[in-house]
Amino acid sequence: MWGGRFAEGPDAIMEEINASIDFDRKLYRQDIDGSKAHVRMLAAQQIVAGEDAEKIVHGLDTILSEIEAGTFAFSRALEDIHMNIEARLAELIGAPAGRLHTARSRNDQVATDFRLWVRDTLDTLDAQLGELMRALAEKAEQHAGDVMPGFTHLQSAQPVTFGHHLMAYVEMFSRDRGRVRDARKRMNESPLGSAALAGTSFPIDRHATAAALGFDRPTANSLDAVSDRDFVIEALSAASLCAMHLSRLAEEIVLWCSAQFGFIRLSDKFSTGSSIMPQKKNPDAAELVRAKTGRIYGALHALLVTMKGLPLAYSKDMQEDKEQAFDGLPSLSLALAAMTGMVRDLTPDTRRMKKAAGSGYSTATDLADWLVRVLGLPFRDAHHVTGRIVALAVERGIELHKVPLSDMQGVEPRITAEVFSVLSVDKSVRSRTSYGGTAPANVRKQARRWLKALARN
Ligand code: ARG
Repeated sequence: MWGGRFAEGPDAIMEEINASIDFDRKLYRQDIDGSKAHVRMLAAQQIVAGEDAEKIVHGLDTILSEIEAGTFAFSRALEDIHMNIEARLAELIGAPAGRLHTARSRNDQVATDFRLWVRDTLDTLDAQLGELMRALAEKAEQHAGDVMPGFTHLQSAQPVTFGHHLMAYVEMFSRDRGRVRDARKRMNESPLGSAALAGTSFPIDRHATAAALGFDRPTANSLDAVSDRDFVIEALSAASLCAMHLSRLAEEIVLWCSAQFGFIRLSDKFSTGSSIMPQKKNPDAAELVRAKTGRIYGALHALLVTMKGLPLAYSKDMQEDKEQAFDGLPSLSLALAAMTGMVRDLTPDTRRMKKAAGSGYSTATDLADWLVRVLGLPFRDAHHVTGRIVALAVERGIELHKVPLSDMQGVEPRITAEVFSVLSVDKSVRSRTSYGGTAPANVRKQARRWLKALARN
């Protein structure tokens, strides 16, 4: 492509470090779409003859079917997807192929192709997040009233409902979805026609190519357009936050399905066995979702470091963006799919959860609140009285509701038998009716609100 200035071909190592075709061939469809939009515009602006443009479009369509049929011969010597396609176009249609690259450089070409790919991927992630949220909200609605222990410091804290716990993740994933949508909106500008870095002297119509490729508008500065990789970094940072949320849920699933917790059963479809221990059923899918997070953060970090300190405009460093994105974003997509399947298929052991919810003095706060509400104690005094009653229970190795009234009265004489009514876990969760609280009626309402919203989009 640049033989004019060169007397020798590249060293084998040069070819190896330089060629990107092994990974950027993924961009073939975007490259062909971009080229078709470009050459149609060139014809409309009378920069190339309509006849040549037609041959080019036809040739590009042939190449598309060759690639999809698996008959296209990719060549490393031709470096990347852009030059592989252009070289094949020359073989297919001859001289007119040379007109395609008028008023264009690989710099704006790759920026355009890659944006198109990232945009499609963000749309997929957006839809997948919707599916996961739906699966969580459906499960939450079914289990809006099923009590489980709520934890802080992974110590029993206060009873909550399983539905409430699941709905917490719906909130997280909805923020992730918002970030994905926001990134998509911000990135949807077309770099095509920025050429190498300075724009072009040809009377091109960048608004036309932008519209043809579904972009909202052309980018406003040619130097920025060819050297900006914010769009993929932003996508990876939204992906990283989402992966962090997935990883937290995955970790909880791993804990919950252990024999020690026994809160849920995973379906066989999302578990594996052991080759030596016949009793085993392992939560491998959850573990792998947790692990994918490392790759996704890795992609984000690699790209942030690659871009840091690069002078304007394009440098070949930027070619390293693709492998990171091609690994990181599909990893998130796979993790979302696996998590959605696991959530849909899991069965909570509601009896066991409820039993666990009642242990660990989880209704101590309810007792303290009762002392405030009924006896008029200041909360700090109520806290102290309750602490002494809990200490009594610990000493005897019994749960709070098993402490005899007379012993409670030994700590605070005004306590009556009515106190036992607040010590059950069901009573406890039903009383948490504050907005956003765990009361089953609240949870049911939130789950239904989300399901309705998710049905709209
Ligand atoms: N394969 C290159 C990349 O992905 C295409 C752009 C090459 N541009 C250049 N000036 N060498 O970045």
